[in-house]
Amino acid sequence: MSATARKSAPLPDDIRARKGGVPLVSLTAYTTPMAQVMDAHCDFVLVGDSVGMVLHGLPSTLGVTLEMMILHGQAVRRGLSHAMMVVDMPFGSYEESPAQAFRNAARVMAETGAGAVKLEGGVAMEETIAFLVRRGIPVMAHIGLTPQSINTLGGYKVQGRGAAGEALLADARAVTRAGAFAVVLEKVPETLADLITAEVEIPTIGIGASAGCDGQILVVDDMLGLFTAFKAKFVKRYADLGEQAELAVAAYATEVRARQFPGPEHVFGDAAPGKKA
Ligand code: KIV
Repeated sequence: MSATARKSAPLPDDIRARKGGVPLVSLTAYTTPMAQVMDAHCDFVLVGDSVGMVLHGLPSTLGVTLEMMILHGQAVRRGLSHAMMVVDMPFGSYEESPAQAFRNAARVMAETGAGAVKLEGGVAMEETIAFLVRRGIPVMAHIGLTPQSINTLGGYKVQGRGAAGEALLADARAVTRAGAFAVVLEKVPETLADLITAEVEIPTIGIGASAGCDGQILVVDDMLGLFTAFKAKFVKRYADLGEQAELAVAAYATEVRARQFPGPEHVFGDAAPGKKA
């Protein structure tokens, strides 16, 4: 079913039921206007902790706080009426214990109106995911390149090559067992992504993975050409809005300095007696 034909936002179970069907469409969003732009076209929108790098200029996602995720979640929620919203649990808000994860995930759900949370980790997060799901919090898992672990992964490298593929398969099986309704596969070899997709009963959402995944996600500022600090191989730029924005700002600066802006159509007449309106 296309997002435009849908009456209300899908639930996690609707997303799960799309396994093997028409690919799920998803993008990240951090603000109300961007959420409005994508609402009719996406099955779910992710308020990703990439917000830290994309909107706040942080060097990684590690400095993102729960308060930031809640604030951006609230903004995105106001822009959505068709797509489901998933909000990322930031670094340090869930890894300590299942109880810590529940306390913080419950805040995210209650204060943002999210349909689900996403957290990073496979086997290591199995118990936590099961704990949340059993207590009413739908969880999307995220395995492969998990940016919150760059310090132990040694950078933003492709994950699961060669023998490491077995561990990633084990991660996918663990999050499925724990009750996650979908799993993001980030930056893994195409053949491994296809194998995991065939193996697990929940939808796989690829980013730098394979067209054979059950859905795809991209960071919206990457695909619109708004985030230009670097471009990952897996990003396709569908527009160059960053370049266009800079041209617009340069034109404005030129016109202001030449006293061409504001023009007569942008200023107000004075209706006072004796003055031209
Ligand atoms: O934070 C994010 O944007 C993400 C996506 C890249 C999946 O987790």
